[in-house]
Amino acid sequence: MLDLVKQETERIESRFLEPACGNGNFLSEILKRKLDVVKGRYGKSQYDFERYAVIAASSIYGIDIQEDNVLECRQRLFCIFDDEYYRPLYKDACKDACRESIRYILFCNIVWGDALTLKTVGEPPGYIVFAEWSPINGSLIKRRDFTFHSMLQNESLNELELFSFISDQGEEVYIPSPEKEYPPIHFLELGNVDAKDATSCRVKENTRLEDVSAIDPTTPEQPC
Ligand SMILES: C[S@@+](CC[C@H](N)C(=O)[O-])C[C@H]1O[C@@H](n2cnc3c(N)ncnc32)[C@H](O)[C@@H]1O
Repeated sequence: MLDLVKQETERIESRFLEPACGNGNFLSEILKRKLDVVKGRYGKSQYDFERYAVIAASSIYGIDIQEDNVLECRQRLFCIFDDEYYRPLYKDACKDACRESIRYILFCNIVWGDALTLKTVGEPPGYIVFAEWSPINGSLIKRRDFTFHSMLQNESLNELELFSFISDQGEEVYIPSPEKEYPPIHFLELGNVDAKDATSCRVKENTRLEDVSAIDPTTPEQPC
């Protein structure tokens, strides 16, 4: 099925959202295809591989109503990155900072929510929020958060790329306001507790603290 959009799955920055992602059968295949391209194109330079691997991970979004699926999906995507690409390529030179950035992005992008009501699951209820991660100036990433419902307000968005609010004809279709904007940050610092707003994804997601500890990038790494 993914071969119907083969070119897009192999475009590193092309964004995908699966609204009922389960434990990530489709998302993991998309991540592998993107990381194959990153490895082939940039594998000789560890820094470039890391930069583009972060961009690849940041382009993948999912929602699932079952919390166990969400946790499994994040961990599965992380392990694909770490076990199948990063560790085999760079062994002891791998950086924990890069792993933490990827973990944090997956923590934000794979959301425990209901794709029909567009709300998070659990108490108190909240709207699903997605982070748009945009590379700027080489190594920096700019993050802007949008509510999912604001992104869906115009039906023509269905034909557009996630977060793309310009039609193929170059016309402005609809521009939702971000819920929040963050200052640009180095891609290897995204998982840095001091540098990020550590609570933003968690609060929006309404995840209980004891559940967060299973995947919170501030806790020790979970083995793959
Ligand atoms: C048959 S599985 C498919 C999973 C995945 N798309 C795949 O192909 O492997 C359906 C998934 O949809 C999720 N789901 C059902 N209703 C949902 C909703 N309203 N919002 C988000 N996820 C939902 C279920 O928890 C389940 O993981």
